[in-house]
Amino acid sequence: MSTQREADRRPETAETGAELSEAHIAVHWKEEEYYYPPASFIAQANAADPRIFERFSEKNFPECFKEYADLLTWDRYWHTTLDTSNPPFWKWFVGGRLNACFNCVDRHLEQHRNKAAFIWVAEPEEEEDRVLTYQDLYVKVNEFAALLRDFCGVKSGDRVTVHMPMVPELPVVMLACARLGVIHSVVFGGFSGQACGERIVDSGSHILVTMDAYYRNGELLDHKAKADQAVAYAAAQGVTVDKVLVWRRHRGRYSSPTPMVAGRDYFVDELLMRYRGVRVEPVSMPAEAPLFLMYTSGTTARPKGCQHSTGGYLAYVAGTSKYYQDIHPEDTYWCLADIGWITGHSYIVYGPLALGATSVLYEGVPTYPDAGRPWRIAERLGVNIFHTAPTTIRMLRKAGPDEPQKYRYHFKHMTTVGEPIEPEVWRWYYHVVGKGEAVIVDTWWQTETGGFLASTLPALQPMKPGSCGPGVLGIYPVIYDEEGNEVPAGSGKAGNICIRNPWPGIFQTIWGQPERFVQTYYARYCKNPQSKDWRDWPYMAGDGATQAADGYFRILGRVDDVINVAGHRLGTKELENAALTVEEVAEAAAVPVMDELRGRMVEMYVALKPGYTPSSAIEEKVRTAIETIIGKIARPKHVWIVPDMPKTRSGKIMRRVVAGISNFMDPGDTTTLANPEVVETIRRQVQAAKVARGEVPRELSAEELEEVRRFGQVE
Ligand code: WTA
Repeated sequence: MSTQREADRRPETAETGAELSEAHIAVHWKEEEYYYPPASFIAQANAADPRIFERFSEKNFPECFKEYADLLTWDRYWHTTLDTSNPPFWKWFVGGRLNACFNCVDRHLEQHRNKAAFIWVAEPEEEEDRVLTYQDLYVKVNEFAALLRDFCGVKSGDRVTVHMPMVPELPVVMLACARLGVIHSVVFGGFSGQACGERIVDSGSHILVTMDAYYRNGELLDHKAKADQAVAYAAAQGVTVDKVLVWRRHRGRYSSPTPMVAGRDYFVDELLMRYRGVRVEPVSMPAEAPLFLMYTSGTTARPKGCQHSTGGYLAYVAGTSKYYQDIHPEDTYWCLADIGWITGHSYIVYGPLALGATSVLYEGVPTYPDAGRPWRIAERLGVNIFHTAPTTIRMLRKAGPDEPQKYRYHFKHMTTVGEPIEPEVWRWYYHVVGKGEAVIVDTWWQTETGGFLASTLPALQPMKPGSCGPGVLGIYPVIYDEEGNEVPAGSGKAGNICIRNPWPGIFQTIWGQPERFVQTYYARYCKNPQSKDWRDWPYMAGDGATQAADGYFRILGRVDDVINVAGHRLGTKELENAALTVEEVAEAAAVPVMDELRGRMVEMYVALKPGYTPSSAIEEKVRTAIETIIGKIARPKHVWIVPDMPKTRSGKIMRRVVAGISNFMDPGDTTTLANPEVVETIRRQVQAAKVARGEVPRELSAEELEEVRRFGQVE
């Protein structure tokens, strides 16, 4: 049936070149079959009672979220669940006080002192695991908090930037900050020194915590070099980093060739000797005090420091970890995300620790030294909850489709997050990785939202490959069209997905850019800027989506200038600015191209200044610039040097047109261009080169076509 439908669609796009209308896509949308949660899962689930839907129904909003807040230990209970007096700067659990570190560590000591909080697995397979019990975590967090307070002089409200790989010292640093009420800003370890420097400047932090080196793909990478670049970049922007705290990957041995700077750089292990046994009282913080910043990309080059709260955020990640990750005290949970992304913050550190869980942390690449590695780890440690992104699933499937069956692990629950998952990849995950025994949740959410927005509730709702599911408990999504009309629920028509109501995990603001916060997320669909009623302030997620008749959502990808590469958000402006640092480059445009493994990759189009001739050396310079300014993840798949960029008469580069060319799609309407003739020249050049390299155009799914068509539509 579905194959027939797809065949119906092909001639129209490929031959007549007519653009697909949204209504047409809706009709030809392929509906998948349901998969039902296994009985054994239901029998043990945290949320197996359907009355939970009633508890979280709209008529019980916002009080329903008391159920999440009651998972925490409060120093002082709140008096107001939701304060909407200053929209859209919502305040949750007002009047309440608590400490996030106390909730994640101290309160578990009585019952779980010697239980593993983290089991760390090094990338080199011969290296021993390190286990941190809750007691170990308590001791280390206290000692590091003492160091931060007494040696660095930081106090509540200050920012500390953390640029570290996947080692247990990273959550130790985060929790030590939380203990003091200090705001941590963790920068993904794979980001460049300059990217880290930009985030230091934006957040105004004077302390950088880093590490000398770490293993990735069998190589010991020098990480300390990035700290020097970050500090130099910040200094050039007028922000002084007073102290750089350097953890060492190998005990007592410095593993980086980059020299330490006297009076600025300190080995953490040496400093900690002064604080042995010191205990630091957790600082009782107001529920609305910021807990951390997490930077993400947007439409302009300046990254957005998403500010998350203490009480609302912690309550939300604890509640969703319990019901959607289904974590019980006896489970062994493994989330493969990096802690440097929001998934790691919410669903490795804060959510699971608030529940007193045991988590696996893995240092390296999932396919190192081979595609059996994750399954060996799962078998050895008895992992029963597994959490990763489609890009990793695709990679493991390609490199070792039959590996999982060689190992005797058993998952009860698996998560996919970060990008849309193709139904055939979903099915491999279900049948091969999950051995048909595990429930899957496809969780849709964002850095800004703190926790899950849409997913099936694992014991109670069936799964549908490729659809994340309905809004999660207490979240009421809605789809609007370009004109601000509500797309009829369940109509299958594409539009911009929004959330009608506030929820405790929503970020509080963009650090230092409150106008941008209102502008980007609320202005477009706000019904009345004077209103203090939350119903007038839907949150715009920036994703395209459809909703099927069963209420399940399908996420189509970003509608703003953001490219989601292997689950990592990259801003086109950041990429283009990096390309423009190359002397020969006059203009640049970054676009997404569909990729079998990474979901999407970046392709750069550049036009040169007069007098320069295209060469592979210039292409390489562009690649290197992007790698050093942003990081390796942003390295473009191709750099195309073109004679001119397709532009509107007002001089705006039409990224949509080149995006179409890169994806072998019809570039759409070009009549508004100032230079329509260049489109055909670029198309020939790029597509011929691709075909010559064996990049045969593959048929794109309706979702992918829609994504490229919408790319860059929202300014
Ligand atoms: C995309 C990651 C489809 C989406 C938690 C969103 C998804 C962006 C899914 C946020 C999913 C995330 N299905 N797309 N299950 N989850 N996305 O901020 O485009 O790194 O807006 O947060 O990833 O990425 P971020």
